[in-house]
Order: sequence, then C-alpha cells, then structure tokens
Amino acid sequence: MSFSSATAAVDLDPDKLPRHVAIIMDGNGRWAKKRVLNRIRGHEKGTETVRMAVRTCRKQNIPYLTLYAFSTENWQRPRQEVAALMALLKKFLLKEKAEMMAQDIRLSCIGQIENLPDDVRATIHDVCAATGNNRHMTLNLALSYGSRAEITRAVQQIAQQVRAGSLDPDRITENIISNCLYTQSMPDPDILIRTSGEMRISNFLLWQIAYAEIFVTKTLWPDFSEVEFLEILKAYQTRERRFGRVGGQV
Ligand code: FPP
Repeated sequence: MSFSSATAAVDLDPDKLPRHVAIIMDGNGRWAKKRVLNRIRGHEKGTETVRMAVRTCRKQNIPYLTLYAFSTENWQRPRQEVAALMALLKKFLLKEKAEMMAQDIRLSCIGQIENLPDDVRATIHDVCAATGNNRHMTLNLALSYGSRAEITRAVQQIAQQVRAGSLDPDRITENIISNCLYTQSMPDPDILIRTSGEMRISNFLLWQIAYAEIFVTKTLWPDFSEVEFLEILKAYQTRERRFGRVGGQV
C-alpha cells in the first residue's frame, strides 16, 4: 500500500465523512471475461482495487472499511477458483501486514473463519494479532460470511442466555442483538457500495445496513477507481439522512 499517489481532486467536507463504508466487490469474473482471461485474473486485478480502497479510506480518515471478500455461497464455486481466492487472500495479508503496521490499520475478519483453510486462518490470526492495537482505521474483511448465518448465530446466543435465566425475553433490545453480531464493536455502515450494477444485497450485513446510503455503480470492481470512490463519498455528503424522521428534525 503506497500513500504517495496523488489524491484525486474531489473536495470532501471533513465533518461529514462516513464512519463506516461497506463494499460488495462484484464483477471480477466479468472483467476477466471481457478480456478473454481466466476469472482468476479478474480476482488478481480486484486485489489491486482492494489496496486502493483501503488506501483511500485511510487517506480520508474513514475509520471502518468492510469488504465482502468471500460469501458462504462462494464455497460452491469451482474448487480451483476457491483455492485461488484463498491464495490471493493469504498473499494480500502477508504483503500488506507491514503497511498496515506503518499506517496504523487494524485487521478484523467477520464470518465463519473456522471454515477457512488452516494456512489462511493462521495468517489471519497472525495479522489480526500484530495489528490488534492499531487505532487509525479498521479493515474488516467478510470471509465465509453470510448475514442470515450471522443473525442465526446471534439468536442462538440470546436463546442460550434466556434458557440459562440470565436474560429476560422482555428485555431483549436492538442493542443486545447488535452486540451478538460479528460487527459488535463497530458502528453500522453509513454507506453500502456495490460494483458491477446488480441491485442486490446478497446476504451482506442485513441488520447493520438498516440506514445505510446505497450506491450501485456499473463499474466492475477491478475498474473501480479512487476518483469514483471519492465521487461516491462526495455524493454521500449531499444526501439528507433522515433516519425515518422529516427533513427539519435531523
Ligand atoms: C465477486 O466477483 C468477487 C468475489 C467473489 C471475490 C472478491 C475478491 C477479491 C476482490 C480479491 C481477493 C480479496 C482480498 C480481500 C484480497 P465475481 O467473481 O462474482 O464477478 P462476476 O459476478 O463478474 O462473475
């Protein structure tokens, strides 16, 4: 991750920055297909965009970035593609660890991490431990992640507390539920971006995006640029977030 690239010329209001950006990185396969390349080349190119997204958030002082890197459904892809994605993830983490330390970025991972291959898990464990005290920004990777599975897990935890007698069902609040999700220590995303034009949420952060501003771009993830990212942040700053209230109340 290099911080030397020129910042694109988009003026952002530092008082209206999102605290948390979540991204569904879609379109790697189509990017490769358009160039008659193997899908894996698309994921490789997409990894460069991951670097850009982290760098941009760090430069703009956005404290949380969550990237949907691998869903529970992605296990059903051809074995070769799954293996390539796992290898890319490991390579990315090993390569970025020093930069994450230098730039005060903490790694966090959400999802069924226990289902990842041993070597990937060990690398995640190592980078999470090394960067655990970094405070400037959190890079949160959703891996083997599915929102319904996350919510199911939360319901199980709450049911166990009720069965044990430590929680009265009448006292279950939204906060208690939020605190049982993988994202418990993070603010909810202010922005959800999806690349490649599909109008779907794809089982991503269903609870957490209740009030997120949604941006869908037709750009395929490998082509998603810093300029476009900054334009989305600029557009976010012009949106009126009412959280269910009327304009003047907010
Ligand atoms: C969706 O594109 C993308 C993925 C399933 C994987 C995303 C992975 C990366 C960007 C690279 C590795 C990740 C990190 C964090 C280093 P798709 O394959 O579904 O594209 P398509 O819809 O065009 O086929």
